Amino acid sequence: MEEFRSKVAVVTGAGSGIGRALAVELAAQGARLALSDAVPEGLAQTAASCAERGAEVRTYRLDVTDRLAVQNHAKEVRADFGGADLVINNAGVTLLASITEADWDDMRWVLDVDFWGVVHGTQAFLPQLVATRGHLVNISSMYGLTPAPAQSAYNAAKFAVRGFTEAVLQEMRVGDVPVKVSCVYPGTVRTDIFSNARAATGLGYGGIRERYAREATTSAEQAARIILRGVRRNRVKIIVGADARRADLLTRLLGTAYLRITARRARTQASQARLEAMRARLAAQRVRTSDHRQP
Ligand SMILES: NC(=O)c1ccc[n+]([C@@H]2O[C@H](COP(=O)([O-])OP(=O)(O)OC[C@H]3O[C@@H](n4cnc5c(N)ncnc54)[C@H](O)[C@@H]3O)[C@@H](O)[C@H]2O)c1
Repeated sequence: MEEFRSKVAVVTGAGSGIGRALAVELAAQGARLALSDAVPEGLAQTAASCAERGAEVRTYRLDVTDRLAVQNHAKEVRADFGGADLVINNAGVTLLASITEADWDDMRWVLDVDFWGVVHGTQAFLPQLVATRGHLVNISSMYGLTPAPAQSAYNAAKFAVRGFTEAVLQEMRVGDVPVKVSCVYPGTVRTDIFSNARAATGLGYGGIRERYAREATTSAEQAARIILRGVRRNRVKIIVGADARRADLLTRLLGTAYLRITARRARTQASQARLEAMRARLAAQRVRTSDHRQP
């Protein structure tokens, strides 16, 4: 797909973050947009930004974990637009918890949205993509390339997205099916994913949510531009951000030795977080003591 003008683009999870930025950038490049999200409020805001750029846009309330709902959504898109040229399975959530403290329901929630949501979107829209000779884009993560402590469910889902997407790509090639397929691996991007995350950070991972938010150097808009450039160039693997490029290179160069590096780094970060928490508690105590002093 060399350009997006007049192409029908389907984006899930378009009410926030990378999904919103993708929608707005696609609108600016002349695409026709079918945008969905489980939460309608953010979606309305995204649609307004796309309409301001002159795009034809329709919004759909959609929970990607609901297979039948995704299939019906594909039918609606066909009826409203005539068929999808580009499908971006973007909706995603995360859980920050060590395996000993992770709640099973939370782990299942991550797998349902991040993995099964991608499977549902792929199966429902593939016939339309075959008809339009379109492009399928599934969003994995840097954590689909390299594992990280306190992210096991997210790692599992994102590694699964990678394996699933590459298998689908091979099937397209084996069968000479004219559908292009890309998998996207963003590093840490400044979005609401960390504030929306479920978290249980008792076991030495204190402050992890704040740290991810602090370390996110790539903006959602930059991420969207990189992803769409990768789609235009028909890249199979689209890596977003210096941190993701580094992780990709190091895991390939170092093999399992990379696991030692990540564990050491996480241990240092956890002790720093504990130290910061202790300092904050001491500072709060000092404030309380000075409050009780006589003037
Ligand atoms: N932000 C990052 O650092 C980062 C890094 C790597 C990968 N990613 C991936 O990028 C994608 C977008 O994440 P983001 O950072 O923009 O997060 P975000 O929280 O800003 O946006 C995610 C959107 O998905 C929607 N969503 C959640 N559950 C849904 C469901 N069941 N059905 C439909 N929509 C649902 C949310 O309502 C939200 O609008 C996700 O797949 C995420 O895993 C993000």
